[in-house]
Amino acid sequence: MGKDKLKRFSQMLTFENVIQPEINFYSKDDDLKGNWSTVFNNQNPIVLELGCGAGEYTVALAKHYPKRNFIGIDIKGARIWKGAKSAIEEDLDNVRFLRTKVDFVTKFFGENEVDEIWLTFSDPQPKKPKKRLTSNLFIDRYLKFLKPNGVVHLKTDSDLLYNFTLEEIKSNGFELLKNITNVYKDSYVDSQNLKKVLFVKTFYEKKWIELGKTIKYLGFKIHPKRI
Ligand SMILES: C[S@@+](CC[C@H](N)C(=O)[O-])C[C@H]1O[C@@H](n2cnc3c(N)ncnc32)[C@H](O)[C@@H]1O
Repeated sequence: MGKDKLKRFSQMLTFENVIQPEINFYSKDDDLKGNWSTVFNNQNPIVLELGCGAGEYTVALAKHYPKRNFIGIDIKGARIWKGAKSAIEEDLDNVRFLRTKVDFVTKFFGENEVDEIWLTFSDPQPKKPKKRLTSNLFIDRYLKFLKPNGVVHLKTDSDLLYNFTLEEIKSNGFELLKNITNVYKDSYVDSQNLKKVLFVKTFYEKKWIELGKTIKYLGFKIHPKRI
């Protein structure tokens, strides 16, 4: 491992906004489950960014919505370090980063504990549909902690993930709130002031845009009853 990475890892141990559970396979729920309001010391809504990378979205959302709490989740420590550091530098007390695999997310959040989920430039997993973060396997996990009427936001450069997710929304009878095929070109009614957050560009997004990819967005509500 490079010196820089080691330095970041040891620095991260001192960051109060980073939670790094010691093991990554749990036979029991984490103590944090159902107790995030004590972490933030308030009852504000909780929003997750799953696969947050360097946390640009988590940090940007936290600045836009100071009355909501944001938790960026990723398995890569060196990436989380960046987001955590910038949240500290910006004095954001409504941000935390949790280092774990999204696969274990139900071990960390209790029933009705989460208000919204953001999926930003998630891996489209071309060969492993079940591993896509909008597959039924993952949606069933989210339903265990997302509030009724909780919203899932997907922002992606991937046609595969976009079309797959649209299909999941249709086949499950989920409520599609917004379908934007080109975030930066389409004209759409912005009643909820979504644009100000959709225009945030992460490191990966900038790369995809340079490669000529169009950025797509789906906002939808999920519920347990399938058609
Ligand atoms: C393409 S990057 C996107 C990062 C960030 N959302 C952005 O837009 O810049 C995907 C991220 O998801 C993380 N990731 C992928 N699968 C994961 C999993 N099962 N659990 C936790 N993190 C995961 C990777 O470590 C990586 O940081």
